[in-house]
Amino acid sequence: MTKPYRTLDDMGDVTGKRVLVREDLNVPMADGQVSDDTRLRATVPTIAELADRGAIVLVLAHFGRPKGKRDPNLSLALLTRPYAEVLGRPVRFIDWDGAADSVATLRPGEIAMLENTRFFAGEEKNDGQVVETMAALGDLYVNDAFSAAHRAHASTEGLAHALPAFAGRQMEAELDALEKALGKPEHPVAAVVGGAKVSTKLDVLKHLVARVDHLIIGGGMANTFLAARGVNVGKSLCEHDLAETADEIMAAAERAGCTVHLPYDVVVATEFRPNPPTRTVNVHEVAGDEMILDVGPAAVEALGDVLKNCRTLVWNGPMGAFETPPFDAATVALARTAAALTGDGSLVSVAGGGDTVAALNQAGVADRFTFVSTAGGAFLEWMEGRELPGVAALAR
Ligand code: 3PG
Repeated sequence: MTKPYRTLDDMGDVTGKRVLVREDLNVPMADGQVSDDTRLRATVPTIAELADRGAIVLVLAHFGRPKGKRDPNLSLALLTRPYAEVLGRPVRFIDWDGAADSVATLRPGEIAMLENTRFFAGEEKNDGQVVETMAALGDLYVNDAFSAAHRAHASTEGLAHALPAFAGRQMEAELDALEKALGKPEHPVAAVVGGAKVSTKLDVLKHLVARVDHLIIGGGMANTFLAARGVNVGKSLCEHDLAETADEIMAAAERAGCTVHLPYDVVVATEFRPNPPTRTVNVHEVAGDEMILDVGPAAVEALGDVLKNCRTLVWNGPMGAFETPPFDAATVALARTAAALTGDGSLVSVAGGGDTVAALNQAGVADRFTFVSTAGGAFLEWMEGRELPGVAALAR
């Protein structure tokens, strides 16, 4: 089937061509080391393919938020070595000063990484001058950074109009998976939406109720919905001022025939710290000095049964305060059920968004989901039904 955008398959002979490849190398660092190299690994198929096809590969990426100023702590030079290790190939680092001369010395099949795109003040403004400076270095443009595609920046959007533009393999995989999950999914579809606050995911919830058959709400967000229905949530994290909005979402779900699942048993504690004394109670039995910190086991089992009857699952956000034991139990249990159903071939499972990937890694199931997105903000914007400028710019 013809895709709405051109891919590496449409590039023809790239031998000796300079290909600017926008990747997302925005990886977390701890003590000067890359603490999670998932995003580096995700770029390998595109970079290796282009190098093997004889292209001169010029990687473009941002790193942190230097806001248009040179910051040595955010130089991509810091990533050259770890990136070369992940690629298993040499990587040259090229500063913006004198970039054209350096690029001219590269031979077919060589890989270079240009300095942080955000060292240009005009990058985030999608400034024409910056687009021109970058475009002058390449013959072709590949956007492989779905996780930065919600930004209309020079390197993510502008360049797609300045050079012949193609989607990289990672971009393609993300778009295929997302299309399967919410574009043209097999029904019934379930969505798990968790996380601390309803306020950060209002548009996600509004968009999903019209598209999914089951909306499973977990995390601190569930408390806001419970409170709106008159449940006393004690000292739980709760946005009481959003009660009316929560009611509106419930009403919209009902009109659309979407079943909203809120927990009916919960794990509570009076202190939020690792392994405090806890109680598992019905939601109507939360004491005034207690906090809801996880979904209870009875609700998790019932949710597992919901997933057994679904064909598609899209997951964003943890079910409880998963970073603090034992409040990871519901997230881990439900994620394992989803992984098992995926393994049986009865469920297509797609997950994404910052904490979600960490939670699935903690449950040890990230590689057993159909697809786990490397995107944070972009995944959320996509779940809101918004057009991502970096993807839109690739349209044929
Ligand atoms: C991310 O980490 O989600 C992307 O790299 C985008 O980064 P940004 O939020 O700084 O634009």
